[in-house]
Amino acid sequence: LELDLINAIGSAETAAAVEDLRVAALGKSGSISGLLKGMGAMSPDERREKGPMINGLRDRVQSALAARKGELEAAELDARLKAEHVDLTLPPRPRRQGSVHPTMQVMDEMIAIFADMGFAVAEGPDVEDDFHNFTALNFPPKHPAREMHDTFFLKPDPETGERKVLRTHTSPVQVRTMQTQKPPIRIIAPGRTFRKDSDATHTPMFHQVEGLVIDKGIHMGHLKWTLETFVARFFEVDGVDARFRPHHFPFTEPSAEMDIRCDRSGGELKLNTGDSWMEILGCGMVHPNVLRNCGIDPDEYQGFAFGMGVDRLAMLKYGIPDLRPMFDADTRWLAHYGFSA
Ligand code: PHE
Repeated sequence: LELDLINAIGSAETAAAVEDLRVAALGKSGSISGLLKGMGAMSPDERREKGPMINGLRDRVQSALAARKGELEAAELDARLKAEHVDLTLPPRPRRQGSVHPTMQVMDEMIAIFADMGFAVAEGPDVEDDFHNFTALNFPPKHPAREMHDTFFLKPDPETGERKVLRTHTSPVQVRTMQTQKPPIRIIAPGRTFRKDSDATHTPMFHQVEGLVIDKGIHMGHLKWTLETFVARFFEVDGVDARFRPHHFPFTEPSAEMDIRCDRSGGELKLNTGDSWMEILGCGMVHPNVLRNCGIDPDEYQGFAFGMGVDRLAMLKYGIPDLRPMFDADTRWLAHYGFSA
């Protein structure tokens, strides 16, 4: 019995086979358990004679089981280490990398061009009060222009009844700048703006870059030169065929929209040719009421201001046909139009 058992244990191939042998020998109805149980019925003499032999048998089988189990475990670990070894010479899996959003890319380009012309960057909050977004900018109270902007209003403050807005343009930054800085002023204000609008060329959130220059003797010639120079640099051409078409904004007088001559019939943008004009920005001379509202004497200082849609200029420059996917966060679209950091 002993020899057979020890042999069988020694040649068991798996931990499960070792366990089967243990049960067969030492389990409840195992062969050795049977012998151990039989000792109870023996006479004291017989027990003294056979007891050590049976106990010895049990001990040797137990240690054989433990030894084989250890061997098998070590072999298993060995096999795993061999199978799972790390090959440090393999190339890494490519990692997906983010890229600069076209809007932000274009915003950076604009900031760089204006910085080169001596403009500083100013900022204001996305959540504005009525004063900065409308009143100080010469929107008359209850004027339909406030509705014209398709304004998002926040819930009124329960104590004061004040209704804040999501700024409908970056022009409130003009006001904030004039309230806190003495002329001469030369700033641009890039940022997010909000209007209740949604179609192929409008999204409820979009981006503008505002510009403001205040100094003595500023006139439309400065405005025209600044914007024409900017647009030419932005589109990387020597000069642009532009026209300033009379328009109305409450905060500028006179006001104009700037159009550039272009041909977009072939899908790609061709500047300075064809007979269609495209509107690219609003501008004008800062209204004397706005200067006064901000504590600047219009008899001493004059200025011009402009505002342009960053996303729309990004579409134009990079031939993006629809504005809405700009903000869908679809990584395939972003990878197609994204710019490396
Ligand atoms: N705030 C105007 C708009 O959003 C643009 C503008 C800015 C016009 C400054 C004139 C001067 O339409």
